[in-house]
Amino acid sequence: MNGATIERVYVWQLPVRLYHWVNAACVATLAVTGYMIGRPMTVPVIGEASFSYFFGWVRFIHFVAAFVFFFNFLGRIYWGFAGNRYAHWDQFLPLTPRLLRKQWREAVEVMKVDILQAKVEPMESVGHNALAGWTYFLSFLAFLFQSVTGFGMYAAMSDAWLPHMFAWIVPLMGGDFAVRQWHHMMMWFFIVFSMIHVYLVFYHDYVEGRGVISSMAGGWKFVERRK
Ligand code: HEM
Ligand code: HEM
Repeated sequence: MNGATIERVYVWQLPVRLYHWVNAACVATLAVTGYMIGRPMTVPVIGEASFSYFFGWVRFIHFVAAFVFFFNFLGRIYWGFAGNRYAHWDQFLPLTPRLLRKQWREAVEVMKVDILQAKVEPMESVGHNALAGWTYFLSFLAFLFQSVTGFGMYAAMSDAWLPHMFAWIVPLMGGDFAVRQWHHMMMWFFIVFSMIHVYLVFYHDYVEGRGVISSMAGGWKFVERRK
């Protein structure tokens, strides 16, 4: 740390932080209620069954969380164009050869830290590191898949215009049963993604010592600047 100063940098703007925690809460709610829909359990009912309506509530919570999840995701896409450079869409999808080369070099460095554990050094990136950005992009594709299949199925149960925009997916994927299977399988992607994500966020917080975890609460990271 000789000859270096620590600077506080505002990285995650409020819309990114809000998006992140609303999304995390929705994914957790959708995975729990979705699992219960996929494996319905018997609930002992004391009294009149229609007052309990347990399974109805499970589905209702799934659908409310689904709408919040979907519009929150649309908000993040908008912020990929309107937000600061750390929130910008090219952090996830490098389309120029120069940016792609830079991100590729960085991704190799991150693998040395995260997977090979051959290095224990802070990353140079201030926003997402390149490998994290790519996995977030993969998760955005999974969000899209889950929304399209979810609303496609929901079209059969709702008169609202939004689900009906996705009704075409059900015949395209071979019927309701097939769509439900894919929708169910994708839940496991989110569970595995979340476990690895939380582990890596804690690991980078420790390796880098730059306040990675708290940055998603307050927005600030600490960056070393050479004099
Ligand atoms: C992270 C996001 C989501 C996860 C993890 C998830 C998970 C699940 C799971 C595991 C099931 C049970 C499938 C089965 O029968 O085995 C399910 C059912 C369903 N989900 Fe989702 N889901 C998500 C997002 C959505 C969204 C955005 C919608 C949009 C409306 C949606 C609508 C539905 C519908 C309509 C069903 C069938 C309900 C029924 O037939 O009773 N889901 N979900
Ligand atoms: C306790 C749980 C969690 C913690 C502590 C956490 C923490 C963080 C942190 C610190 C970042 C920024 C990483 C960086 O500096 O590169 C981040 C980004 C992100 N996390 Fe989480 N996270 C959690 C749960 C989740 C869950 C459940 C999901 C969804 C499945 C999720 C999805 C994301 C996404 C998509 C980003 C990129 C944000 C963006 O730029 O829009 N996180 N998370």
